[in-house]
Amino acid sequence: MASYPLVLAIDGPAASGKGTLARRLAAQYGLPHLDTGLLYRATARALLDQGHVLSDVNAAVAAAEALDAAHLPETRLRGAEMGEAASVVAAMPLVRAALVDLQRRFARAPVGAVLDGRDIGTVICPDATVKLFVTASPTVRAARRHKELASQPGAPDFDTVLADIRRRDARDSGRADAPLKAADDAVVIDTSALGIDEALAAAMAVINARRLASGA
Ligand code: DC
Repeated sequence: MASYPLVLAIDGPAASGKGTLARRLAAQYGLPHLDTGLLYRATARALLDQGHVLSDVNAAVAAAEALDAAHLPETRLRGAEMGEAASVVAAMPLVRAALVDLQRRFARAPVGAVLDGRDIGTVICPDATVKLFVTASPTVRAARRHKELASQPGAPDFDTVLADIRRRDARDSGRADAPLKAADDAVVIDTSALGIDEALAAAMAVINARRLASGA
């Protein structure tokens, strides 16, 4: 086994648990991991830092082209506000096009790679060894996000978090270019009733079966 690169495409909506699962899978299989949401967050952050409005497509494309994926200021990119801003620039086809090569280069590492996002299985890595679509009901995702935020000053109430999640789902799924959706050959993992260890076990069962069959 392990004679071919192992490319894992992990897609799903906000707060589905895909990021945690992707990190755990990367550690498990010794693969580099790219959280592609950070690319859209960094694009939006750069745009705002430079004093542009989020709807400025030319400035957004320039910001996306100037990104250095090795140096994404993660602490400044987290949070619901940046997630919302990222979702706005991510709906621009030219911004998405500017970020394709970077993601595909990352996926071509000799050992393989784990990428998580919205369009990895459908657009970025259509030939991934394994595609997982990680999801959970909006109320479960909102409850998780609400709990994460609860200790912070000025934390939003549950209804606000749920409304944010629904709005982001609608924008990410409804856009014309590379909308959030499961690839036809993706395996869906619904984490509504699963803890991270159970989700990891479910994902590994799929991956190990595929590796045995393909030699990856
Ligand atoms: O995964 P995240 O919450 O960090 O992503 C932030 C936004 O970026 C998300 O609402 C949609 C967009 N995104 C995307 O369109 N395609 C990706 N591959 C990753 C993220």
